[in-house]
Amino acid sequence: MSQEPTLHRAVMVPEVIDALKPRPGGRYLDATLGGGTHSEELLKRSAPNGQVLSLDVDPAALTRARERQKAYGQRWRIAEANFRNLKGEAENSGWVPFDGILFDLGLSSDELADPSKGLSFQIDGPLDMRLGPKANEDGLTAETIVNRWSEKELIELIRTFGEEKFAVRIAKAIIERRRQKKFESTLDLADTIQASVPKTSRIHPATRTFQALRMAVNDELASLKQALMDADSILAPGGTVAVISFHSLEDRIVKQTFKKYKNYQISKKPLSPNEAEVKNNPRARSAKLRAAHKNSTKNNYVTDVRHSYD
Ligand SMILES: C[S@@+](CC[C@H](N)C(=O)[O-])C[C@H]1O[C@@H](n2cnc3c(N)ncnc32)[C@H](O)[C@@H]1O
Repeated sequence: MSQEPTLHRAVMVPEVIDALKPRPGGRYLDATLGGGTHSEELLKRSAPNGQVLSLDVDPAALTRARERQKAYGQRWRIAEANFRNLKGEAENSGWVPFDGILFDLGLSSDELADPSKGLSFQIDGPLDMRLGPKANEDGLTAETIVNRWSEKELIELIRTFGEEKFAVRIAKAIIERRRQKKFESTLDLADTIQASVPKTSRIHPATRTFQALRMAVNDELASLKQALMDADSILAPGGTVAVISFHSLEDRIVKQTFKKYKNYQISKKPLSPNEAEVKNNPRARSAKLRAAHKNSTKNNYVTDVRHSYD
């Protein structure tokens, strides 16, 4: 199956490179392959013998990358996997420990534009919102949430994950509407939300509710917490974990989990994209990059042995 080229524009590429400092012979794990720009940049900068393992839950992202994989031979491995299982995937690769691990969170522009995923409130599609078959363990979809969850559960979800001040109104409108007819499509839901709230904001009134649903369906915060906890155990001394997050709930988890790491240098403030990038790629405007650098230990057995084989 051939795939259209990616629509996704990777954010903060120079900053990520500066944080991970890829070098020949290094090993890198890109937990969120997406359009593949960060992975390929790591491959180029770690040439001729650096290795990159890229994960994604979205089969379309993998197919797209596989078309370019040949150019890098055995140096680039691509796996359909949830980063929740990052440790197992890393161990299966036989490449532990890694010198750099990258997370670029959220969804890609390709996923947003894919009607079958049902992620956009501007394109009609099924109320699914799973980023891929491995996105969650229980098969939960947005359709189940909006048609079955109680008012209380909906309010809690929209308020917590969406940080939506009209959570009560939106939840009540969802309950009211589904009494008459089940929700089946994204536009159907977006119209109900739009009609339930005052037109006060510059963003589409369904933005925050759609974000909340996507986060719940893909169990995003729990997966991130798990992956960040495990990242420490597969990272080489001297290595770096870098995370790009797009909203405050994610950023809080990154900050709190980094604090639990022992023997690391943690950047106090996150980096933001520069003005020129935000101008050229509005999606970058809410990006925040945090990095945790593991201290080197002298005579570290694992790294010494590995590099003597490179
Ligand atoms: C913002 S995009 C990454 C873009 C990428 N850095 C690039 O250079 O194009 C985020 C990607 O992470 C993937 N993703 C989200 N949650 C995931 C998870 N739990 N496990 C693996 N991949 C995930 C999405 O499917 C999406 O392709």
